[in-house]
Amino acid sequence: MQEEIKSIEIITPDDWHLHLRESPIIESIFPYSFSNYGKAIIMPNLENPIIKFSQAMEYYKKIKSLITSGYKFEPLMTLFLSEETRAIDIYEGAKSGILKAIKFYPEGVTTNSYRGIKDISKMYNLLEKLPDLNIPLLIHGETANSKVDIYDREAYFLEQTVYKLRNKIPELKIVLEHITTKDSVDYILENNINTAATITAHHLILNRNNLFDEGLRPHYFCRPIVKREKHRIAVRKAATSGNSKFFLGTDSAPHFDHNKESSCGCAGIFSAPNALGYIAQIFEEDSALNNLENFISINGAKFYNLSLNSTLSKFTKFKEAIEYPSKIKVGKGLITVFNPGYPLYWKNEILN
Ligand code: DOR
Ligand code: ZN
Repeated sequence: MQEEIKSIEIITPDDWHLHLRESPIIESIFPYSFSNYGKAIIMPNLENPIIKFSQAMEYYKKIKSLITSGYKFEPLMTLFLSEETRAIDIYEGAKSGILKAIKFYPEGVTTNSYRGIKDISKMYNLLEKLPDLNIPLLIHGETANSKVDIYDREAYFLEQTVYKLRNKIPELKIVLEHITTKDSVDYILENNINTAATITAHHLILNRNNLFDEGLRPHYFCRPIVKREKHRIAVRKAATSGNSKFFLGTDSAPHFDHNKESSCGCAGIFSAPNALGYIAQIFEEDSALNNLENFISINGAKFYNLSLNSTLSKFTKFKEAIEYPSKIKVGKGLITVFNPGYPLYWKNEILN
């Protein structure tokens, strides 16, 4: 029998998909990211989406100003692709070094995506400029067409949109964000080296039964919606395989409880406080701790052509369950922390 691994040291992880929001939420939730990760891709879907480089610069400065001394966290900024996006903003952003990606949301597909794209083929001219700038396109890969069954929207979008885009611009770096299906896993594996995917902690843990377990679970509602068990298993296999095309993007997406526990609840799961611990636990369960560093600390940076973090992080398994806050208070509101329904035993810390 193999000896139980109780602790490992690896390069400090990155989060390749993170929602930090704005004041007053950002002040309360950001410490959970800058104290655990070296870098993160910051999503641009604010209420007023970040379309211009000047907005990205302002947001970057705000984020930097909130980092407590002693932490080296670097926010990697993105622009929200809209029909008004101008090439000059992308050029300026790339030149400044702070812009690291462009995010493509189909119009209306999720939170604050009302200025997203109706027809991506109209944007091909602009997207053709990205490879030379080493700027990847990050795709929320779900159709916004409400006639398509919600469980089929990711596979449908792959067929209708991603195939064509990929064929049109083979050298474009594409990240399919928060993949949830076997279809997406297979697509990534078969496609060229410019194609990768992020995977969340919650999509490795939940299937669609969990969403309706003894009643409706609003804190398990996210976009893309959690899928059938066979899809969860395929995504989990991809993550724990260590394959360089898959890396962690938590999609930690805080919403106030009153907006989630509502007659039309918002999509999003807030997992920044415990995603890394649960990820380590998953890799342990799947006898894949030797691939943890690839998935959370190496693969993403390599795909983006960025340096690996210079610090190490220690992951430790405890005998007793680790406590984490069940909710975070923001003013008079509350934000629920992801709770998969079973205890957490792994904890991580950045070593100096
Ligand atoms: O569940 C989600 N929440 N999925 C997204 O794509 C967006 C995010 C948010 O911003 O709330
Ligand atoms: Zn997201």
